[in-house]
Amino acid sequence: MCGIVGIIGREQVAPLLVDALKQLEYRGYDSAGVATLQDGVLDRRRAEGKLVNLDKLLKENPLGGTIGLGHTRWATHGAPTVRNAHPHTTPRLAVIHNGIIENFAELRAMLEKDGYVFETETDTETVAHLVTRALDRGLDPVEAVRETLPQLRGAFAIAIMFKGEDDLLIAARNGPPLAVGYGDGEMYLGSDAIALAPFTDSLSYLEDGDWAVLTRSGVVIYDETGATVERPVQKSAGTAFLVSKGNHRHFMEKEIHEQPEVISHTLANYLDFSKGTIRTDAAPIDFAKIDRIAASACGTAYYAGLIGKYWFERIARLPVDIDVASEFRYREMPLSKDSLALFVSQSGETADTLASLRYCKQQGLTIGTIVNVRESTMARESNTVFPTLAGPEVGVASTKAFTCQLAVLASLAVAAGKMRGTINEDEERQLVRELSEIPRYANQALRLEPQIEAISRDLSQVKHVLYLGRGTSFPLALEGALKLKEISYIHAEGYAAGELKHGPIALIDESMPVIVIAPYDHWFEKTVSNMQEVAARGGKIILITDEKGAAASTLKTMHTIVLPDTPEIIAPIIYALPIQMLAYYTAVFMGTDVDQPRNLAKSVTVE
Ligand code: G6P
Repeated sequence: MCGIVGIIGREQVAPLLVDALKQLEYRGYDSAGVATLQDGVLDRRRAEGKLVNLDKLLKENPLGGTIGLGHTRWATHGAPTVRNAHPHTTPRLAVIHNGIIENFAELRAMLEKDGYVFETETDTETVAHLVTRALDRGLDPVEAVRETLPQLRGAFAIAIMFKGEDDLLIAARNGPPLAVGYGDGEMYLGSDAIALAPFTDSLSYLEDGDWAVLTRSGVVIYDETGATVERPVQKSAGTAFLVSKGNHRHFMEKEIHEQPEVISHTLANYLDFSKGTIRTDAAPIDFAKIDRIAASACGTAYYAGLIGKYWFERIARLPVDIDVASEFRYREMPLSKDSLALFVSQSGETADTLASLRYCKQQGLTIGTIVNVRESTMARESNTVFPTLAGPEVGVASTKAFTCQLAVLASLAVAAGKMRGTINEDEERQLVRELSEIPRYANQALRLEPQIEAISRDLSQVKHVLYLGRGTSFPLALEGALKLKEISYIHAEGYAAGELKHGPIALIDESMPVIVIAPYDHWFEKTVSNMQEVAARGGKIILITDEKGAAASTLKTMHTIVLPDTPEIIAPIIYALPIQMLAYYTAVFMGTDVDQPRNLAKSVTVE
C-alpha cells in the first residue's frame, strides 16, 4: 500500500507534498517522509508514525526546493522506523515506492557483492542501488531506469528524483496505481486523484508496465516495450475530492451519518423512482444468459458480496460462488464462460481483488465490478462498472461504501430476477418501492445513536464479543465483528446463529456479550432458539431487532436495540447502521485512533 506523490513545481514543494500526503494517509501511516532537491542537492526529512510527526519536523527543520517526493508508508519489509521510512536515498538519487519488490533478496545479494551498502531492511532500497549502479556505469537517468525496470519482479509504483537534475522525475507502474497530473509549468505524480486534487484535475493514469519521464513542460510515457505511448488526459472530480470532517469528531462518524444521502444517490443510479422499476440502463448485462456468478472481494466488500449472494439466489435463482479474493486468485476453480465474474471494491485497487479480476478476464469471462472510485484500475479493466456513489471514504473502516455496495447488489439482484423471469412486474415494483425506502429507514436508525453510545460504554469494558445472525444477518454478524475488532481492538467473532452449538457455545459465560442480529423475518424464531441457548448459559445478549421482534421475544437481554419494522430485502442495509455505531462508540470509549486504526490501511495494494 503506501501513498506516493511527486511534484516538479514553481513554489516551495515541501508543504505541498505534505498537503498531498494528508490525502493519501488512508493508504498507510507507519511513517512518512519527503525529499527535495535544492540547488542540485538532495535532502530529506522522515518521521515515524503519522504525518503530523513529519509535519512537525518540517516546521522545525524546513526543506527548500521546487522539486520533491513524498511518501506515507504501510510497512511490508522492515519495521516502521525512521531508518526504513521512504524516501530512500543514495548519493545520486531519492526513490519512493508503493508495493513489493519480490526478488529483492537476490537483487540485494548481487548489489552487496558489487560493494553497494544497504542502510535499511526495505525492498525499496534495492531499486535505489540498482539505478545508482546504472548511473555509476555512465548511463543517464532515463537510460538507467530503462535498464533497471526489467530487473524488478513484483508490484510497484515508484518515483525517482536525481541529484543535480532539477527538472526531472521518473516514475514507473507495475501493479499499484499511479497518476500523472498536469499543471501550468508544473507536473505531478500521485497514487490517486485525491492526492493531486489540491493541485490539478487534469490527470492521466499509467497502465501496467508504463514508465514516465516528467519535466516542468510535460511528460513522455513509455510502455513496457519502450515505445512512447499516449495515455488519455481525463478530468477528475478534482477539488470535489477534498474532504473534511466538518463538525464531526471523526471521518467514520461523518461517513456513518452520510449514509441516507449517499445511498439515495446510489439508488438513483439503478432505480427509476417514478416508474417504480429498475432503470433499463442500470444493468447492461443480460442476466438471463448467465448461468452463475463467480464473485470475489476482500474485507468488508467481501461481506457485502456475501449478502448479495443471498439476494441473487433467492430473488433471481442465480447461483453465486463467492470467495475472498486472496483465495479465489489461486484456487484455480473451474469457471464457465457463461458466468459473470463480479468484484466488489471500494477503492478498485485492492491487489488480491484486482488479481482475481485479471484471472477471470484471462479465462474469458465478462467482468462486472461494483466500485466506488470511478478512475480506479478495476473500473478501467472491467467490461461493466456498477458505481457506488458513496463519495470519498476516508475512515479506514468502511461504512458508507459498504451500505452503498449493498444497495447496488440488491438492485442488481432485482434486475436479474426480472430478466430471468423469477419475479414479475408487480414483484419488481414492490421490491423497488422497498429499496427506495432505505434512506428513510436509515435516518430512523441513526436516531438510535444516543442509546447505542450508552451500550457501547458497556461494550468497551469487555475482552471478547460474539455476533450471531441467520440468513443475510449472518454476513452482517461477520461484518459487525470485523468492524469492532478493527477499530476497538476488542476480539470479536461473527457466527451463523445455527453454528453456535458446533463450537462457540463453549465460550459463553457471563463475561461474553453476544450481539444477536435478528429482524423479525422468516429466520427469527430459529434465531430466538439460539438466543435461548445463550441465555441458558448466562451469556449477556444484546439484541438488535425490530418492533415486531421485540414484541415477540420474551428473552431477558442486557440491551435491546429496536429498529423500525423494515421490508426484508433492506434489513441488512438498515441493520448495518447500529452495527457500525456500536463499533464506533466502543472505539471512542476505548480511546483508539478510530479513523486510522493500528496496522491497517484503507487501500491494500499488496498481496
Ligand atoms: C482494507 C480496508 C477495508 C476494506 C478492504 C477491501 O482491509 O481496511 O475497509 O473493506 O481493504 O478494500 P476495497 O477497497 O477493495 O473495498
